[in-house]
Amino acid sequence: MDLQRLTDRLGGLAYGGDYNPEQWDAQVWKEDDELMRRARVNLATVGVFSWALMEPEEGRYDFEWLDAHLDRLHAAGVAVDLATPTASPPPWFSLAHPDALPVRPDGARLTHGSRDTYCLTAPAYRRAARRIAAALAERYGDHPALALWHVHNEYVTLCLCDHTAAAFRVWLRARHGSLDALNDAWGTAFWSQRYTAWEQILPPRATQWHRNPGQALDFSRFWSDETLAAFRDQRDEIRARSDRPVTTNLMLPGYQNLDLWAFGREVDLVSVDHYPTAPGVDAAAHAAFDADRARSFAGGAPWLLMESGTNTVYERGRILAKEPGDILRHSLTHIARGSEGALFFQWRQSRAGAEQWHSAMIPHAGPDSRTFREVTATGEAVARLGELAGSTVRAEVAVLHDSDAWWAMAAEGLPSSELDYAGALRRAHRALWDAGVTVDFAHPGQDLSRYRLVVAPALFLLSDVNAHNLGRYVADGGTLLVQHFSGVVDERHHARLGGYPAAPLREALGIRVEECRPLRQDERVTLSDGSTATSWSESLRTEGAEALAAYTHGMLADSPALTRHGFGAGHGWYLSTRLDDAAYAALVERLLTEAGTAPDLPGLPPGVEAVTRHAPDGRAWHLLLNHRPEAVPLPQPGHDLLTGTTLGELPPDGCAVLRAR
Ligand code: GAL
Repeated sequence: MDLQRLTDRLGGLAYGGDYNPEQWDAQVWKEDDELMRRARVNLATVGVFSWALMEPEEGRYDFEWLDAHLDRLHAAGVAVDLATPTASPPPWFSLAHPDALPVRPDGARLTHGSRDTYCLTAPAYRRAARRIAAALAERYGDHPALALWHVHNEYVTLCLCDHTAAAFRVWLRARHGSLDALNDAWGTAFWSQRYTAWEQILPPRATQWHRNPGQALDFSRFWSDETLAAFRDQRDEIRARSDRPVTTNLMLPGYQNLDLWAFGREVDLVSVDHYPTAPGVDAAAHAAFDADRARSFAGGAPWLLMESGTNTVYERGRILAKEPGDILRHSLTHIARGSEGALFFQWRQSRAGAEQWHSAMIPHAGPDSRTFREVTATGEAVARLGELAGSTVRAEVAVLHDSDAWWAMAAEGLPSSELDYAGALRRAHRALWDAGVTVDFAHPGQDLSRYRLVVAPALFLLSDVNAHNLGRYVADGGTLLVQHFSGVVDERHHARLGGYPAAPLREALGIRVEECRPLRQDERVTLSDGSTATSWSESLRTEGAEALAAYTHGMLADSPALTRHGFGAGHGWYLSTRLDDAAYAALVERLLTEAGTAPDLPGLPPGVEAVTRHAPDGRAWHLLLNHRPEAVPLPQPGHDLLTGTTLGELPPDGCAVLRAR
């Protein structure tokens, strides 16, 4: 399998980062070789932003400088993750092909002078991208340094130009077949939006008032498909010339809202970038959220943390420094959850240019610095974990994640601006993380039978097929929690009539939601079990379910807020409001107990993260992270790979990797 080949090729887990040597001179390259050896770097991502050097003018390639770097890295024992540079077209390209510059929803065409200034649907861009991918693969396809191909960088640029409009229409014809079907799907009978020719249809550009939700949803689907097609173009050029695995670095937070399940199926290795948005324990929880998503998009297979920041926490307009020890802790969080290594952006902090204040493995201060000492210590730690390569993580709990539901919930004109798809998923994951269990993300249409508990925090859009799948999961013995405003529209963004959620799910939950009643911004409701909630409430009645808690005041007084329904061999729970943190945590604990799930390593106090990686041959390792400021005794002493000693307790804020079997 491809990833196995990566770790085999490296002789262990991957460690390193983006390497942009074109910013420096030969003296520095020499020092790089020595410092990479010291830091135990074995993988460098090269070429991500090198288009201007690789192709100084249209169709004329210059790879000699790159030959020299690849040969030098190979001689220094560093393998290469070779990138296609297509995220950053050079100025000559934009000047020659102004129609390939991206157009914003308001119609403004962006200019060159930054990066990511391209339009994926512009034929000139797609041709140029394919051409340079092919040229690179032709030249380096079997280079001894080459371990991995890295297509593009974080596909994210959105463009609403005329090329996009034309491609959108082609996609719509294939999806809907006829204008009548499209008009029906988009509900154009309202607001006089009926289309009588395909050419009338535009991508969702700036409009006077709410955009049509069906149009916006279809556009998100189209754009995700188009992005994947652009990736495939390059991947296939590479695959025709090279047998090394191909990846593209995904960016998980709301930033990149594509169908990442689909990307997971098309890459040889899922790789992701992660930058925390808050320090301390929140950073650890955020890293776990993204790492669990990465593993899930990889279908449970090993994956790779392609980028992280040695010293970067993006918090509301500031770049905060990481606390001492966080480089190792954050790297281990990802490795615990299935990453085959830890890589950073970038090796050396830029002296000039747009990212000169972004942290790096070697900061401006040079190697005599806290950051580089921690980078070196982390490299040594990762080098001791080689035996974990190829092992995987098992989870008994899943949170449902569906791009359709996410895109649909981005529609304008929903009943509350507080409805937040990504936020709801993160909150559910956080409650489970706090409870110490390992969590997968799952698609509502997939086989869920391996999970004891499934949580659906924001399944606003739900197709009939997926609603049946969830009903079957419960009937077969699963425990399912569905949260408010779920199953409310179908895959065409049409409201479910006769009560929410979608009928097959309603049956499994034994309820019928009659009306949504969003709360005022500062309103808090109290439930009959003493818990409090904000943001949202619903008027619902039970149709077989038991009411576990009811609203206590106002027009919803005495009507159910939290319900539980025995259905077949399982239980369907429904929560119609947004519980406050403590009450939500208590509900999650109760569900975990009812579902009979336990943490990977029971017996640890809250604030200690423990995940187990399993090898196919039965060996296993517990990866432990202590987020508490005091030492924590271990349930059983174990051999720690990081220190090479037997550990009886975890040091304050410390980590360990224990051989379990
Ligand atoms: C990533 C990107 C890198 C760098 C980094 C900064 O999203 O791939 O090139 O810009 O962000 O955090």
